[in-house]
Order: sequence, then C-alpha cells, then structure tokens
Amino acid sequence: MIKKNKHSKLSYIFNWISGDVLSSDTAKIINSFTETENLYMSAIREISTKLEILNDEFKYSKDRNPIHEIKSRIKTPVSIYQKLVERGHDLSVESARKNLTDIAGIRVICPYINDIYLIADLLTSQADVGVIRRTDYIKDPKPNGYRSLHLIVTIPVFLSDRTEVVNVEVQIRTIAMDFWASLEHELTYKLASRKTEDVLKELRECADIISSTDNRMQNLYNNIVNL
Ligand code: GTP
Ligand code: MG
Repeated sequence: MIKKNKHSKLSYIFNWISGDVLSSDTAKIINSFTETENLYMSAIREISTKLEILNDEFKYSKDRNPIHEIKSRIKTPVSIYQKLVERGHDLSVESARKNLTDIAGIRVICPYINDIYLIADLLTSQADVGVIRRTDYIKDPKPNGYRSLHLIVTIPVFLSDRTEVVNVEVQIRTIAMDFWASLEHELTYKLASRKTEDVLKELRECADIISSTDNRMQNLYNNIVNL
C-alpha cells in the first residue's frame, strides 16, 4: 500500500514540535505557508519545463536556441509580507494568493528581440496556460528606460486530491535588456534616495543605446539568415 505523504518534511517537523514549542496556530500558519510555497514551486517547474521543451525543439528543428537562460525565484515570506502591508491587504496566505501575482517568478533571457515574442506566443497558446495580464515594456518602455515583456500566466497544478490554478509572473527580455535591468536594479538599491536627475538621464540614455543595439543585432541576424 502506498502511504499518502500529505506533508512536506518541513511541515512534518513543525507538526512534531508544535505541541512543545509552537502554538498550534503558529504551526498551522507555517504549514500553510510551506504548502503554498510547494505549490508555487511546482508551477515554476511546469512553466520552466514547457520553456525548455520549446527551446530543445528549436535546437534540433532550427539549429538555434531562442532561449539563452531561464531563471526563477519564489518570493520570500518577508517580501510577501512587505508587499501585502504596502498595498493594505490582509496578512494571510489566502490574501497573498489572491492579491499577489508575482509569488512565483520566471525570467526568460533571449538572444534577440523577436525571440521574446516567439516564446511569449508559443507559451501562451498552450491549452493549459491562461493569460491574466500582458504588459509590453518594449513597445512602451518605463520612463527610466526599463524594457521587458511581462506576462502573468496561470497554470494548473495537479495534486493528489485537487487541482490548483496558480499564477506565475514571466518576464521575457533580451540579454541586453537583462544587462541594463540588472545593473539599474543594483544602482537603484545602492543610491536609494540619492538618485539625481543626471543619474536618471544617464540610465535612460544607456537603455536607449542598448535598445538600438538590440534592433541592429536583430537586423543583422535577419540579413544573415536571409542570405
Ligand atoms: P511590482 O510590485 O514591482 O511587481 O509592480 P507591478 O505589479 O506593477 O509590476 P511591474 O510589471 O511594473 O514590475 C514587476 C517586476 O519587473 C519587478 O519586480 C522587477 O523585477 C521588474 N521591473 C519592473 N520595473 C523595473 C525597473 O524599472 N528596473 C528593473 N531593474 N526591474 C524592473
Ligand atoms: Mg514584483
């Protein structure tokens, strides 16, 4: 007989110590957090696998990869807490699931701009993938110069006793856009409130130069493959 393993190792430990160390309410909250984290990690695995399958198919059918790299992360409990507080939502796992669309995040880095739209279209046209939001910060960059295609998608996760539909934030960008966003993120963090107009202008100009290079590389690619 297969023993039903309903709890993760962590929640098992919490269950075990809850009587002595944690109040049963605290243990319940921790268990529910662990269960939710597991759900979002499963959703990330589902979407990542879909992306890897597409990338592998292109490798043998077109002899190139439209995906350079896939990164993923789960929002930490502290960031979840901070965002719920900032936005004035209830502080509970249910509220986080309902109000936050970026608990599970995947970043897809592509070589060329056209690869971004190719991957987005192939992913969102799959039968089990739903689209909640699509924001094109490439066509309409943020005022600071930030560019990426953002999707909030849904994916069903099939558990032993139920199916959960989970939100995943997918950011798709070129290597060049990722280079800018990574450095901008770090600089913004370091500068905090000391971000002057000059710094903002310089960042914006760098983003525009990077964008024009992305377009030139795309044209170069198109001309070479059409030779
Ligand atoms: P968030 O509360 O940040 O999730 O805002 P939102 O729901 O309006 O989402 P948005 O699409 O603006 O941004 C979501 C994510 O995109 C952020 O968490 C970052 O990872 C990334 N992002 C958005 N804007 C910027 C930016 O100006 N610079 C950098 N480096 N990353 C950004
Ligand atoms: Mg976010």
